[in-house]
Amino acid sequence: MEFPFDINQLFSERVSVLDQTLVAGRTSTGMPQLQARIATVIDELGRASAKAQQLPASITSASKLQSQRHQLYLLKDGESNGGRGVAVGFLKVGYKKLFLLDRQGVHIEAEPLCVLDFYIAEGVQRHGYGLELFNFMLQHKNLEPVVMAYDRPSPKFQSFLAKHYSLTPSVPQANNFVVFEGFFLNRPDKS
Ligand code: ACO
Repeated sequence: MEFPFDINQLFSERVSVLDQTLVAGRTSTGMPQLQARIATVIDELGRASAKAQQLPASITSASKLQSQRHQLYLLKDGESNGGRGVAVGFLKVGYKKLFLLDRQGVHIEAEPLCVLDFYIAEGVQRHGYGLELFNFMLQHKNLEPVVMAYDRPSPKFQSFLAKHYSLTPSVPQANNFVVFEGFFLNRPDKS
């Protein structure tokens, strides 16, 4: 996704980790324009993600990120667009307190790291960027995908999880979250 400003000025790393402060590893003071541009990138990606998932409204925006304790991993390709760079996609995660059902139908309270939104730009999907981003997050969080929960995963995302991490089938839940076989065995002691 291209923007009328230099993506490399906003994001120095190939993958940036953004939180409530909306600054990619810098101090925000005195940089309102930088922050406004980062917000534009997040808002545009969030809109595109909602459209791709046929959601009525964005679940990811700069203002939402500022008010929630989530983390957003943003992947850029710094060389494209004549060296100004493009935003390739993002992955948003956060901890959620969930009531889940194990294989026996027993209620378990847990607070796993959840995948809340995930998007790779149209035209560059199925090029391995999603895997690069997801693996970066797993390494950053030092987690295996089976200990995580997934908020309403789309068919493409379910196929992605099955292909790259052999995550299938899931344990049926009463809410929108999906967890996989092994979640209840490998769960870190978060409850
Ligand atoms: N149809 C079916 N499976 C797909 C598709 C597709 N159009 N695109 C990706 N996949 C799955 C397949 O398993 C594919 O392997 P294959 O090509 O051998 O069939 C695999 O992903 C490819 O892996 P990557 O190239 O690393 O994945 P990609 O860069 O495309 O990122 C993602 C995956 C994020 C799901 C991307 O396809 C996307 O943005 N889709 C639209 C938005 C979306 O559905 N996001 C998930 C929302 S649910 C949530 O966030 C909790």
